[in-house]
Amino acid sequence: MTANGLYEQKVLILDFGSQYTQLIARRVREARVYCEIHPFNMPIAQVRAFSPRGIILSGGPASIYDNDAPMADRKILDLGVPILGICYGMQYLTHQLGGVVAKAAEREYGNALLTIRDDRDLFRGMEKEAAHTVWMSHGDRIERMPEGFEVLADSKNSPVAAMGDPSRRFFGVQFHPEVAHTPDGALILKNFLFTICRCDPTWTMASFIQATIRKLRDEIGPNRVICGLSGGVDSSVTAVLLHRAIGNQLSCILVDNGLLRKDEAREVMELFQEHYGMDFHLVDASEHFLRHLKGVVDPERKRKVIGREFITVFEKKAKELGKVEYLAQGTLYPDVIESVSFKGPSATIKSHHNVGGLPEVMKLKLVEPLRELFKDEVREVGMELGLPKALVMRQPFPGPGLAVRILGEVTSERLEILRSADTIVLEEIRKAGLYEKVWQAFAVLLPVRTVGVMGDERTYENVVALRVVDSLDAMTADWTRVPYEVLARISNRIINSVRGVNRVVYDISSKPPSTIEWE
Ligand code: XMP
Repeated sequence: MTANGLYEQKVLILDFGSQYTQLIARRVREARVYCEIHPFNMPIAQVRAFSPRGIILSGGPASIYDNDAPMADRKILDLGVPILGICYGMQYLTHQLGGVVAKAAEREYGNALLTIRDDRDLFRGMEKEAAHTVWMSHGDRIERMPEGFEVLADSKNSPVAAMGDPSRRFFGVQFHPEVAHTPDGALILKNFLFTICRCDPTWTMASFIQATIRKLRDEIGPNRVICGLSGGVDSSVTAVLLHRAIGNQLSCILVDNGLLRKDEAREVMELFQEHYGMDFHLVDASEHFLRHLKGVVDPERKRKVIGREFITVFEKKAKELGKVEYLAQGTLYPDVIESVSFKGPSATIKSHHNVGGLPEVMKLKLVEPLRELFKDEVREVGMELGLPKALVMRQPFPGPGLAVRILGEVTSERLEILRSADTIVLEEIRKAGLYEKVWQAFAVLLPVRTVGVMGDERTYENVVALRVVDSLDAMTADWTRVPYEVLARISNRIINSVRGVNRVVYDISSKPPSTIEWE
């Protein structure tokens, strides 16, 4: 992004591999300061070019004395920029500046009570000499601080739970201010950002929209852009933002693969075509997809077939639209971080390819206006742009749609059964006020039949599994403790009104070891 007011004040987060690094970024953004995560070994020239107002060194699993301990370029210490080291980041600072880090007798993990000894900088606004709960997770600890540093806070097991050298504006905390288990953590980070780095809280979604629209106009010029709409939050916000920027130089394509929820394609079309007046193209490819899915039972094959056919259908439609230079994608910041992570790409458990492969096949340049945003920022942008709340708050829906919720072969009859059950699930979850509280709620159609009795008749019909999960980021999830009355209503309604189903079961597996979707 070109330099403009919005991006003048940036904080750099160097990642030493902590599972909490993204949370640091979340907290900084919530304080309305723009930040980016980069690997710990970011070359110093790039750090300079980034021109951070402050640097935060994340925690990490390594010990500073490991042979392959991750080390940032020492020259970051000479930039005159404030630095906050968290856990391993604090140990790195200590080690680099001539202090001593030692193995603690035992690993400290969990809540600890922090006593503040100095409330001038990092702990401004927090009561001195009083106990504050913080979250600790570390093996090593600071044995001797580097010259110039003072103890700012201690805990029972960490005599140096926080330290600082205010003249150089270097600070270190042994605990994790970024996690919810440290109730004052947000305040501590804000003190670093506002008091120490002297940032201003200017990162708002309204200013993001303005800056992005300007940038998109510059970048795209008179060229044309196509965008694949799925009706999900990310692609919808991408499309509306682009439409604001370049009007009908943008064409949107919705491929109805026949695997969408009830009425979904029609609703998306009404919103974008009628309400926003976009150049919108609905391609009804239900038959096409069903044909290609005939006999396909293996989950990975299903995903591959759907991904491949999406490209075929999309490309064909796009060609009809004439010359196009750009493809818009709703890539978000977590995907960007994942792809630059020094830990390397995580193992593919399931192929998530909604539009993967398209840009190469069609020789298009990518435009990804949301690639700096987290999901909740995207939602905020959506609200700012006036998208309906129901769409902005929509639960995630997998690219391969209902196909991965029909175990076994996908047929139009089975799609019909699942769609009806799914509609009931969502209606009841909404009625119970749970829709925006849970991560996802949906029905799965199983490839087994069970015996039941209806009236005096024996039935031999399908089983529907109900899946409702709580999650923060889909990496882990727990099954939701849905009240029994709600479960009862869902089960009754499905069994009584969906032809072909005589049993409903509730999935009580968490992720890991299960996954959210069944395929
Ligand atoms: P799993 O089943 O891997 O799902 O625990 C994690 C989250 O990702 C969603 N999901 C997908 N999203 N394309 C997507 O855009 C896909 O192919 C896909 N598969 C799963 C899933 O709904 C859950 O929120």
